Amino acid sequence: MIQPPFPYSLRRMTTDDIPHVIAIENESFPVPWPAKVYRNELTRNARAHCLVLEMDASTRPAKDGKVSPARCTGSCVGYGCFWLMEGEARVSTLAVAPPWRCRGLGELLLLALIDEASSVGAELLALEVRVSNRVAQRLYAKYGLGIVGRHRRYYTDNGEDALIMTVELLGKAYQDRLEQRKATLFSRLGGVVLRPLPIDVCDARRTGRSPAT
Ligand SMILES: CC(C)(COP(=O)(O)OP(=O)(O)OC[C@H]1O[C@@H](n2cnc3c(N)ncnc32)[C@H](O)[C@@H]1OP(=O)(O)O)[C@@H](O)C(=O)NCCC(=O)NCCS
Repeated sequence: MIQPPFPYSLRRMTTDDIPHVIAIENESFPVPWPAKVYRNELTRNARAHCLVLEMDASTRPAKDGKVSPARCTGSCVGYGCFWLMEGEARVSTLAVAPPWRCRGLGELLLLALIDEASSVGAELLALEVRVSNRVAQRLYAKYGLGIVGRHRRYYTDNGEDALIMTVELLGKAYQDRLEQRKATLFSRLGGVVLRPLPIDVCDARRTGRSPAT
């Protein structure tokens, strides 16, 4: 498993992580998975591979009235899972706690999932993403995932379509690209003074607009 610079670390999810994962899940998805789904993934689904991203406890956000604190009471700031099925790693979930978004941690988790998928023999990485989820689509495109199809009315909460995105993991060119991305990301993460960010600041940084007041 890849080892990011301090204060971050990656490891396999355990059932002890479920309350922290659920707290992030509830803030990240319109139809969050309940705890029993994660318990099932971790204890009964041999195809499931789940990782958590932790941050050194001393860097956890404090309540300051403006920034919403990470709901996880431990040091878990994000997680991701995939299922390995006949050479295909199907990403089933990926999320970063809202105050810690926009600093490269979603990218770190995706990189870790890709690395883990390659190491367990996956040749292809695939996932579904909401048509409206442009943030996630941009992240996936950054890692070479391309749109190969669409599931009509895939999401039951609002009838939204899902885009199917995939990338071939084999091949020196892709692996070299991953190494470059990893080096750039690690250097970004290693030099950052850590503070949680309100999400509107995150969006404003990318769009060049001032955050809403
Ligand atoms: C998708 C998600 C995991 C991204 O995590 P993150 O830590 O904020 O993302 P990062 O800071 O690592 O950004 C990585 C890339 O994502 C894209 N991105 C991230 N935030 C963005 C924003 N606000 N606007 C546009 N693009 C954005 C960019 O391509 C970015 O690369 P860059 O830094 O070179 O511009 C996070 O937004 C999240 O948990 N969302 C809710 C759950 C979800 O939608 N999961 C995906 C389900 S398919």
